Amino acid sequence: MLHKVITVAQQKGGAGKTTVAAHLIVALAQKGFRVAGLDTDPQGSLSAWFQMRKQYWDVRCVQGVEVSAFSDWWRVRPEIDRLRDMYDIVVIDCPPHMENDAEKAVKAADLVVVPIQPSPTDLWATAKTIDLANAQDANTFLLLNRIVTSSRLSQQFIRDLPRCRFKTVLVNRVAYAESIGEGKTVTETHASTPAGDEVRSLADEVTTILMEQVGDQARAEASAKFSVKSASEKKPVKVKSASGEKIKAKVKEDVMA
Ligand SMILES: Nc1ncnc2c1ncn2[C@@H]1O[C@H](COP(=O)(O)OP(=O)(O)OP(=O)(O)O)[C@@H](O)[C@H]1O
Ligand SMILES: [Mg+2]
Repeated sequence: MLHKVITVAQQKGGAGKTTVAAHLIVALAQKGFRVAGLDTDPQGSLSAWFQMRKQYWDVRCVQGVEVSAFSDWWRVRPEIDRLRDMYDIVVIDCPPHMENDAEKAVKAADLVVVPIQPSPTDLWATAKTIDLANAQDANTFLLLNRIVTSSRLSQQFIRDLPRCRFKTVLVNRVAYAESIGEGKTVTETHASTPAGDEVRSLADEVTTILMEQVGDQARAEASAKFSVKSASEKKPVKVKSASGEKIKAKVKEDVMA
């Protein structure tokens, strides 16, 4: 068992935390990991997704995924510990405006994923989240979400965003909202489309980061058991712009350093 915790955090509301958390839960489970979600947002969106999942379960759904919900922060820490003991990976969905004890979810994380949309206000708001993660000495990666491939602003974000972001970017696609609305994710409903490719690519990157944190023996065992690509096998996601020009999501060797 890996016993790793991924926290999806971003103070800016609507950045895509719940969408990303649900997609990671499913994509990591599809790789063979035992995965639990923890909804710490009083809005309860991840829990609502999980309820829909049970209601609209079908053959495309990956098995063995659980989601629990605790928004009382004094109960969150023991719940993280309980889930970490039982699962390979725990994915925590955080509320926006993380104040007070919300740093517990960041402190417990082996990886903090910060979704960010390509807009200046999102970039400014992200500084608070980064400060919070830095204060907890967390391993933090930005994830560009809702990229509009034909937009110059999106392309500029892909080029200019600071280091420590995922090479994978998530494009603005109706498929994300649609699949969540059915209690599923795009790797289940749109598995053979670019949306499915994006999310699998993200899950590969996440897995690589987590694997780098474990010892050689645990890594070898996990590689044998789960669908884990080595860093050299990873391919950057290609984003197609409206003009037909292929833009390679910026790949800097030092992003993952
Ligand atoms: N890549 C995407 N493409 C299209 N729509 C998206 C994408 N990512 C998120 N969305 C949509 O953006 C909206 C906000 O997403 P989501 O609820 O995941 O954000 P959040 O950060 O969890 O919000 P909150 O801060 O309120 O918890 C939703 O309507 C969701 O369907
Ligand atoms: Mg949310």
